[in-house]
Order: sequence, then C-alpha cells, then structure tokens
Amino acid sequence: MADTHRINFEPVDIEMEVSEDETILDAAFRQGIHLMHGCREGRCSACKSYMLDGDVQMDDYSTFACNDSEEAEGYVLLCRTYAYSDCEIELLNFDEDELLGGAPIQDVRTKVAGIEPLTRDIVSLKLDVVEPEALEFKAGQYVDLFIPGTDEKRSFSLATTPSTPDRLEFVIKKYPNGLFAGMLEDGLSVGDEIMINGPYGSCCLRNGHVLPIVCIGGGAGMAPLLSLLRHISETGLNRTVHFYYGARTAADLFYLDEIAALGEKLDNFEFIACLSESADQAPGGVTVAEGNVTDIVDAGESDLARTEVYFCGPPPMVDAALALAEQHSVPRDQIFYDKFTSPAFD
Ligand SMILES: Cc1cc2nc3c(=O)[nH]c(=O)nc-3n(C[C@H](O)[C@H](O)[C@H](O)COP(=O)(O)OP(=O)(O)OC[C@H]3O[C@@H](n4cnc5c(N)ncnc54)[C@H](O)[C@@H]3O)c2cc1C
Ligand code: FES
Repeated sequence: MADTHRINFEPVDIEMEVSEDETILDAAFRQGIHLMHGCREGRCSACKSYMLDGDVQMDDYSTFACNDSEEAEGYVLLCRTYAYSDCEIELLNFDEDELLGGAPIQDVRTKVAGIEPLTRDIVSLKLDVVEPEALEFKAGQYVDLFIPGTDEKRSFSLATTPSTPDRLEFVIKKYPNGLFAGMLEDGLSVGDEIMINGPYGSCCLRNGHVLPIVCIGGGAGMAPLLSLLRHISETGLNRTVHFYYGARTAADLFYLDEIAALGEKLDNFEFIACLSESADQAPGGVTVAEGNVTDIVDAGESDLARTEVYFCGPPPMVDAALALAEQHSVPRDQIFYDKFTSPAFD
C-alpha cells in the first residue's frame, strides 16, 4: 500500500491526508474538500496553488497552465501534483462555502433519452439517470462521461439544473474526428447506457452574492451558462444578467426562444448574439453585434470590475475573456470559468 502524508491548506487551515498514488486534488475530493478546479488535467490553471513546504512532484501538464518560471518559484497544479512528504500549501483561489459544502462526487448509470441536432455542429444529448435515481449537482457544474466501448472519458457541462436531477441535458459541439463526436454521429442510440462521474467544476452561483452577472459563452459554452440562467429563472434570484454569446453566423444560434422566455422572468436581462462572421439575417427580436464576443463585451460593459463574470467555451475564447477580465481589473474571486479543453488537443 502506498505511503500517506498530511496536507495543510492555508489560509483556510484545513488538513487532510493524501496517498502517494493519488493527486492532491483527487485526495481532496475523496475527503469531501472541494478545492478550486477546472479541467483536472493540468490544462486550465484553475487549481494553481503555492507550495509553502514539502516534497511534491507534478505529472505532465501544459505550460500554458503553469509556466517554467512559476514552477521554479514553487507554484503547482494540484490536479497533477503528488505528495511525497507532509506538505503546507497556500490556496490562491478558494471559496469558503464550496470548500466543505460541494456536492459529493458520484458514479451514476444513465441511459440515452435523446440526441437532437441544434445547429450544423452542435447537438443536445439528453440522459435519463438510472442508478442511483438522481444526480446531485449545482447549476453550472460538469460531469465526466465514459465513452462506451473505450477507456476514454470526456467532460461535459450540464445544461439542466438541480430541479431535474433525473433528466440531464448536455450541449455538445461535434469536432471533426472527435472520439465522442463520432459516437454522436454514428454509435449512440436511445436506450444505450452511459456511465457518468461527477459533479465537478466551480462555475456556480454563490449564495448571497448580489453583483450583476456577465456571462460570456462561445459554441457549446452555452451549456453551463444556460444551466445558470435556467436556475436563476427557476429560483427567482433577482440578479441583473448580461449574456454575451459568441457564434459564427446567425445559423449557429439556438435556444433563442427559451433564452428570451427565461430572461423575461428577470428584471434586468440582456442577451447579445455576437456574430464573428456575419450579422446578416439576424433572427427577429435578438440583439446582434458583429465581432468577437470578448471585443463586444469590452465595448458594452463600462464597469466590468463591479460584476461577477462567468465564461465558458473553447480555450482561445476563455483565454481572451481572462485577459479582458484582467484588463478591467475584475477581482479574481469574481471570475468563474470553464475552459473546454480536450485530452486529444493541446
Ligand atoms: C470542464 C470542461 C467542460 C466541458 N464542457 C463541454 C460541453 O459542455 N460541451 C462540449 O461540447 N464540450 C465540452 N468540453 C470539451 C469536451 O470534454 C471534449 O473535449 C470535446 O467535446 C471534444 O471531444 P471529442 O471526443 O469529440 O474530440 P477529441 O477526440 O477529444 O478531439 C478530436 C479533435 O477535435 C479537435 N478539438 C477538440 N477539442 C477542441 C477544441 N477545444 N478546439 C479546437 N479543436 C478541438 C482537435 O482537432 C482534436 O484533435 C468540456 C471540457 C472541459 C475540460
Ligand atoms: S489545471 Fe488543474 S484543474 Fe485545470
């Protein structure tokens, strides 16, 4: 059996044990401690922390997430870090409510309930939860789907909310030659079984927060933002929401009627379709702006630092949104994001 060590997290003063054969992030999940994280694969930097003391080693990771000089200074990615002594670690980002109050990680058996095209390359995948009977999660979180017939898994954000814990929806972009995309094309049918594991992710609403919300999404990044919007609308949370959604053309937009209906329940809601290739043929009633989604947010939000910003989607969009948030001096604890990385794509 592998040796175990004690980890002390500062400044929250939480202690846990870790075995030498698990990452510090996984050990934390196992013990019900929800550290800040995103991809769990060393690609997004959400779990970056600082070693105060101890002997650790990091598995493969992307230098975009932690560059060589940061590594030399003592920064680590907890999703890739193994401990070989007792350690003291400073958490750079944490949420006191989430730390000990997150939903437990569950293994859940589901069955495909429907696969429907939403645009030329985005589909809605609906799963019925079979065993246990429901998935406990928070709006904005994601789960891992195990790809039937392979040892591979992919992360997908829930588009639904905790109000339907037995019927889950995912919004999935089909990348050419993608492993999971291929299954959606020709391989998965209604009734097929899919195992899922989760929930993960920190892109959730915080209890008691009141600042206006700015959502920035691109492509399948609609999924967690739709979950947040559905949840805000269902629970009657009265927060201002500006939702900027980036797509190439008007033909790549979807769920516009539902978004408008959800927005009508809020006092202050705006949806801006940001079309990077052409603003022609905009659907009736939808506000359209032409350009990159982050440029349009930059022009449209005069006080981004006094908002909570949620952004989800492809890595280049998320990187641009992070740069924008930094440029507008948005405090780090007002930024929540999921970068849709793929294990097959660096
Ligand atoms: C936290 C998290 C949440 C996610 N949520 C969602 C979600 O809600 N919806 C969703 O569609 N995806 C989401 N993803 C991405 C998803 O997990 C898959 O990585 C993605 O769908 C590709 O899977 P695949 O098996 O079809 O393709 P892969 O077999 O993984 O990739 C095949 C090829 O597709 C291309 N490709 C893959 N990803 C990208 C990319 N980001 N940009 C450009 N080319 C790419 C590359 O050419 C790659 O070689 C999320 C990822 C993370 C980390
Ligand atoms: S780099 Fe660790 S969660 Fe993404």
